[in-house]
Amino acid sequence: MRADVFTLFPQAFDWYLSQVHVRNACERGHEFHLTNYRDHTPLSHLQVDDTPYGGGAGMVLRIDVVCAALEAVFQGDAAHVRDQRRVLELTPKGRQLDDAFAEELAGGDLVLLCGRYEGIDERVTHLVTDRVSIGPYVLSGGEVAAMALLDAVTRKLPGVISNPESVLSESHSAVLEGGAEYPHYTRPAEFRGWGVPDVLLSGNHGEIDRWRALQVRKG
Ligand code: 6GU
Repeated sequence: MRADVFTLFPQAFDWYLSQVHVRNACERGHEFHLTNYRDHTPLSHLQVDDTPYGGGAGMVLRIDVVCAALEAVFQGDAAHVRDQRRVLELTPKGRQLDDAFAEELAGGDLVLLCGRYEGIDERVTHLVTDRVSIGPYVLSGGEVAAMALLDAVTRKLPGVISNPESVLSESHSAVLEGGAEYPHYTRPAEFRGWGVPDVLLSGNHGEIDRWRALQVRKG
């Protein structure tokens, strides 16, 4: 997978990209690239946004700036980038990300367009294959949503998570039929009067598997 993130705040991704599973992915040949729209603006004074036609609050990220950034990275018409890869706009108006959607995106090359302010000029629809939201609430920009999406997708890449069983048994994946994962406990077995279910301390792995399956069904 190659993921290209376009943003006005590339530094926002520093912490996420330093995480061990992202580094594992890079060692396996996957690539993460960040592009600052501002580095490619064709406008003077490093301008990237403008006031909305028709008036109203806030600023809108300009479509000419988005196209210039895409064309600098992909060396071709911005409208054709989506012929080769998924181009995703992060927007609260998008299709809500879930485990099946993350599965669908994993492995292919991705372009993530982050908006700020009031978002990107609506003509971004000519550039994208998908508009993606991470939930029914509004964030101040697409960066946090882009990291959530990258994280959900990256951990599905083969070999990225050292214990593949933990990916398979994870919350919301198909093996759990969309149910939540079973609860986890670790030492101490007793803390401030709060105990651990006896079955987990029993060493009886048949019983433990049955208990966990029951917890998953209970949700
Ligand atoms: Cl992808 N962007 C913004 N700005 N807000 C959101 C979102 C995305 N998903 C949920 N809220």
